[in-house]
Amino acid sequence: MVDEKKLHALREEALAEIAAARDERALEACRVKYLGRKGQLTNVLKSIAQLPPELKPIIGRLANQFKKEIEAALRQAKEEIKKRQEETLPGIDLTLPGRPYPLGKLHPITQVMVELCDIFLRMGFSIASGPEVELDYYNFEALNIPQDHPARDMQATFYLSGDKGVLLRTHTSPIQIRTMERERPPLRIIAPGKVYRCDSDVTHTPMFHQIEGLMVDKDVSFADLKGILTLFAQETFGSETRVRFRPSYFPFTEPSVEMDISCVMCGGEGCRVCGQTGWLEILGAGMVHPNVFRAVGYDPEEWVGFAFGLGVERIAMLKYGINDIRLFYENHLRFLEQF
Ligand code: FA5
Repeated sequence: MVDEKKLHALREEALAEIAAARDERALEACRVKYLGRKGQLTNVLKSIAQLPPELKPIIGRLANQFKKEIEAALRQAKEEIKKRQEETLPGIDLTLPGRPYPLGKLHPITQVMVELCDIFLRMGFSIASGPEVELDYYNFEALNIPQDHPARDMQATFYLSGDKGVLLRTHTSPIQIRTMERERPPLRIIAPGKVYRCDSDVTHTPMFHQIEGLMVDKDVSFADLKGILTLFAQETFGSETRVRFRPSYFPFTEPSVEMDISCVMCGGEGCRVCGQTGWLEILGAGMVHPNVFRAVGYDPEEWVGFAFGLGVERIAMLKYGINDIRLFYENHLRFLEQF
């Protein structure tokens, strides 16, 4: 039961804590501790009704007086804290909540590139790389595209030197050559990277990304190419995705194909995105041409292989339903933050 002595002790304790409080948060804790709904002095006030009649007026008067004193002390302490803050940091309100730091993220193309590479890494491929400023030899010659070959027109090239010997690579295929020159088969590599072409519209940018793939061994077949690329398409776009291979032409593969997937928008019914065909082309591939093996000193009678090359932006556009490739490179945060 509360008595005068205890009540005085409670007052002393409360006033000492208020005097020691250094900021508004500590003051608020004091207020709650003594005057809050379940505060110590509030409890005393609530218990007065149960006191013996002779104590009621004494304790009642004291408790109310102490309550006023504590309230006044809280008010005064609050003002002092405000004043101190004003003196040290004029114009700055330390009680305002802080602004959250915006967290940086990987660019959507980088995210997709990592995701796609992971699929091949899980299949036992390892990563290879090569220079973006490339020699004509690696970008064309060694890939069975000699000077004046009409296939050079397929890729509008940025040349860096007058004699056309140095250029910005137009595809990641030169990394095939550089890797095979360096290593002996068997090989299983992917090569992600930036490539450049003199191209610009809603589906083409002058800089874009490709992922190259190359597998060379004694008994690699077209069935391996189909199996690996089908699995890749289903991992990327969902297990219900259907694929088809159409004959195509690349000078560095023979036979060559383009792989289509069933349209991600309409599921194959036919819509605007797939031009009513139900199919979308996502990559080029084929069996490595014997001339490419000869250029790197591999015996085409001994080794076989397949290669493929895909456009990362194209896959990102299909995955996220983006209809203009240039959005990736305009750096609008409202676009980029969605990924
Ligand atoms: C090639 O670049 C071949 N090197 C691919 C290859 C590798 C075939 C190995 C066989 C074996 P192509 O020019 O079709 O092929 O380009 C491949 C993909 O790059 C295209 O399907 C397209 O998605 C993408 N692409 C091409 N030009 C651009 C561009 N300007 N902007 C964005 N993506 C592009």
